[in-house]
Amino acid sequence: LWNNEISTLLKTKYPIIQAPMAGGITSSKLVAAVSNAGGLGMIGAGYMNPFQIRNQIREIRELTSNHFGINLFIPSRVETTEDEIITSITLLQPYREQLSIQSSNQIKADDFFKVFNEQVQIVIEEQVPVCSFTFGIPPIEVVDKLKRANITLIGTATNVKEAMINEESGMDAIVVQGSEAGGHRGTFTPEIDGSLIGLMSLIPQVADQIKTPLIAAGGIMDGRGLMAAICLGAKGVQMGTAFLSCSESSAHSLHKQAILEATDDQTAITSAFSGKLARGIKNKFITEMEEHKALFPDYPIQNGLTSDIRLAAAQQNRPEFMSLWSGQSPMLARSQSVKELMNHIVSQSEKILKP
Ligand SMILES: Cc1cc2nc3c(=O)[nH]c(=O)nc-3n(C[C@H](O)[C@H](O)[C@H](O)COP(=O)(O)O)c2cc1C
Repeated sequence: LWNNEISTLLKTKYPIIQAPMAGGITSSKLVAAVSNAGGLGMIGAGYMNPFQIRNQIREIRELTSNHFGINLFIPSRVETTEDEIITSITLLQPYREQLSIQSSNQIKADDFFKVFNEQVQIVIEEQVPVCSFTFGIPPIEVVDKLKRANITLIGTATNVKEAMINEESGMDAIVVQGSEAGGHRGTFTPEIDGSLIGLMSLIPQVADQIKTPLIAAGGIMDGRGLMAAICLGAKGVQMGTAFLSCSESSAHSLHKQAILEATDDQTAITSAFSGKLARGIKNKFITEMEEHKALFPDYPIQNGLTSDIRLAAAQQNRPEFMSLWSGQSPMLARSQSVKELMNHIVSQSEKILKP
């Protein structure tokens, strides 16, 4: 059961990956605990600068000698108008007032392409064993460079077409992300309906079309989910929400609490926080912004426009304005250690195989 294409590729005991979660959730303690427990811990480095990345890699190496990975965001060109930005700023103003944010809204003119290339350089210099991507496919020269450095590459797909593009680009494994998934959707083909395919439908349809080993993501919290994903054609799983609520994760305590208290019907998909579709616990911000959804500028512009709102909300303990990312199975989340979670997944899976 455990010794398969994914665990062999990742050099782990189990084909279980802790989802990279950008935004300060994947502490070194979390990543190392997962790798030490036989899974693959991953750094969510999408928003990190090269200095922070290098520091965290070195910190993790102090805590584990096992394999771990890192995840980067693929940048894309965005078109936005002055009008769109002004509209969004106007819509966000009431939240800024409720949080007593004084400064005016600033868009940071980060060059996301430059940042991405710098991140890749650190990954190579530090010889991180596994690198995964979301929001697109890395340029061919980046794929070549990483492969020459012997780094295992993992792409993300939310439909069959994206999985085929990932395979053609030479990814060693592909995360298939169902609509249940917490956090941002990895969709990079033009999204008409948001490419919201449930994992149970997505895995076998992708498995029929491609040879690259698949890693299932979305709503998986335990051994039942893992075994179901394997039955459908996946070789491993990537779990976000389940690891977020573990004691080693550095998610905001109110974020953990919101997940632990949520019911199955309380998550929603929104683009209000970032301009890109993402799933989280429904709160005041998501509900009120829903009627304006056609007006938000694309990611990363909207993300930049809401960044001080999200920061102030977290500092002031106001979950109604925080991005409380969660998958669709919050009722299966537990406040526990990584070791307890891993033991539970493994023993439950083995029991299903041999009752
Ligand atoms: C808080 C949070 C942050 C996330 N950040 C990232 C990220 O930086 N990169 C990425 O590839 N996926 C990210 N994801 C998505 C996960 O990779 C995965 O698809 C998702 O967690 C699976 O659904 P689940 O949360 O129900 O397990 C994030 C998910 C969550 C919950």
